[in-house]
Amino acid sequence: MRKYKKILFLTGAGISAESGISTFRSENGLWNNHRVEDVATIEAYYKNQDYVHDFYNNMRPDLWNSKPNDAHLAITKLQQNYDGEVYIVTQNIDTLHEKAKNKNIYHIHGQINQIVCMNCGNIYETWGDVTSESICCNCNLMGTLKPNIVFFGEYPLYMDKIENLLRICDLFISVGTSGVVYPAAGFVQTAKYYGVDTIEINLEPTSNNLYFDKHIVGKAGVELPRLVEALLKNND
Ligand code: OAD
Repeated sequence: MRKYKKILFLTGAGISAESGISTFRSENGLWNNHRVEDVATIEAYYKNQDYVHDFYNNMRPDLWNSKPNDAHLAITKLQQNYDGEVYIVTQNIDTLHEKAKNKNIYHIHGQINQIVCMNCGNIYETWGDVTSESICCNCNLMGTLKPNIVFFGEYPLYMDKIENLLRICDLFISVGTSGVVYPAAGFVQTAKYYGVDTIEINLEPTSNNLYFDKHIVGKAGVELPRLVEALLKNND
């Protein structure tokens, strides 16, 4: 493995699976027998706020209690010891990268522990319940708060920053994402367009097969620490 100056991780639900958090598209997935249309679209939010709030209120305690696994901790080790820059673009709404003390994290689909006011745009942090009767602490309106999670029908966050990272990185590593939700699913193609080396770690090859130079088939908690050791070997 050659020496890289800027490494960009794209992480998905699979990196958190070994922490006991269900992925989205597995059996008994994170949507927990709810229809995506009912809990993860902007239309659903406007139609039935309390139903949507309940869904995320129920999810918060498990995510609050979850702990980072060896895959998150491998990134910590890399960031602390690698003579180069390491960035993380995550589709995950959990905060396991933060709990592992990872740095340079971009949550493109938002975070479970943040609420946004649809009236004034104020974002604040909470692990508590939110309802349609909750009041924005900034503009004082009731019924304007939404989990700061990017629903289908909304734009992902930090896209300008990420376009730039895809251009300037020299290694792109995708971990535990099925690669079916855009724009994240297209990041590897963009990286390849810019001549970046690309690696995928997943339990199985994904539909983005073509654009990865290397597939590592296995669990993130096993394979990512190995990959990090290989990167650190060439750290001089
Ligand atoms: P998915 O549930 O679609 O895919 C999870 C991927 O992780 C699959 O390809 C699994 O094979 C892989 N996987 C599972 N366990 C693994 C392990 N231990 N090690 C390595 N890989 C493992 O989840 P995402 O790709 O993250 O968006 O889903 C993308 C987006 O779909 C989510 O961010 C969410 C959803 O719509 C929003 O909510 C906005």
